[in-house]
Amino acid sequence: MVTTSTERQAMRRAGRVAARTLALIGTRLAAGISTADIDRWVREDTSTRGARPSQLGYHGFPAAVCTSRNDVVCHGVPRADELLQAGDILNVDITSELNGWHGDTSATFCIGEVSAEAKHLVETTRRALDAGLAVVRPGAHLGDIGAVIAELARREGCSVVTDFGGHGIGRKMHLPPHVSHVGERGEGLVLREGMTFTIEPMLNLGSPETRVLDDGWTCVTVDGSWSAQFEHTVLVTRRGHEVLTEAVPPRR
Ligand code: MF3
Ligand code: CO
Ligand code: CO
Repeated sequence: MVTTSTERQAMRRAGRVAARTLALIGTRLAAGISTADIDRWVREDTSTRGARPSQLGYHGFPAAVCTSRNDVVCHGVPRADELLQAGDILNVDITSELNGWHGDTSATFCIGEVSAEAKHLVETTRRALDAGLAVVRPGAHLGDIGAVIAELARREGCSVVTDFGGHGIGRKMHLPPHVSHVGERGEGLVLREGMTFTIEPMLNLGSPETRVLDDGWTCVTVDGSWSAQFEHTVLVTRRGHEVLTEAVPPRR
């Protein structure tokens, strides 16, 4: 999908809502809170901003936010009996719909002091997203994004999940194309000005294999190793790209 300049403005607004809510949640995370608390805060803050949590009811998803802790790769379902502990890592994935347009962003947070391994995983995943974003410009190929992410992950001893990927985004949360986090330079779709999509690498400390729990949503690593993820919504501009969900201070 390619956006017009009015549509890009609407995407910027939706992206900013998601980014602000994520920033607010980041300030509240602490040992002892539950992931259901996060879900409640996301509902409240999203509605304060005149938006709607896109994930709520999406294919029956029962919450407003995905909270994915430790060995949970993605699509973790918030629960009142899941309390954060010092040493945990937690991905909070927020998608907001404002005036019919969607913005999608996530970050992995460290709760208190985490192990050196966990810190390495989180930092490598953050760098993997940055590396993927850095190659986005008109004329680049989707495969360029996957290639730089996979190379960085391999160099740092982490594996890349291939069961899920980024996606086009606009008037729907999920649109074509599929954005793989592995790939070959020069292969795949050629990027054009006005395209909007997400990059959202999931990296594991062990094997990249995943499985879905009986709740039908929670996706975990098969080997129990920990997993981290970061996500931004990005717009291809004339000269490069613009991150529509850039991290912001948690104010209105
Ligand atoms: N925000 C998620 C993504 O990055 C979508 C999760 S779909 C849900 O694509 F139904 F699990 F919420
Ligand atoms: Co996404
Ligand atoms: Co997301």
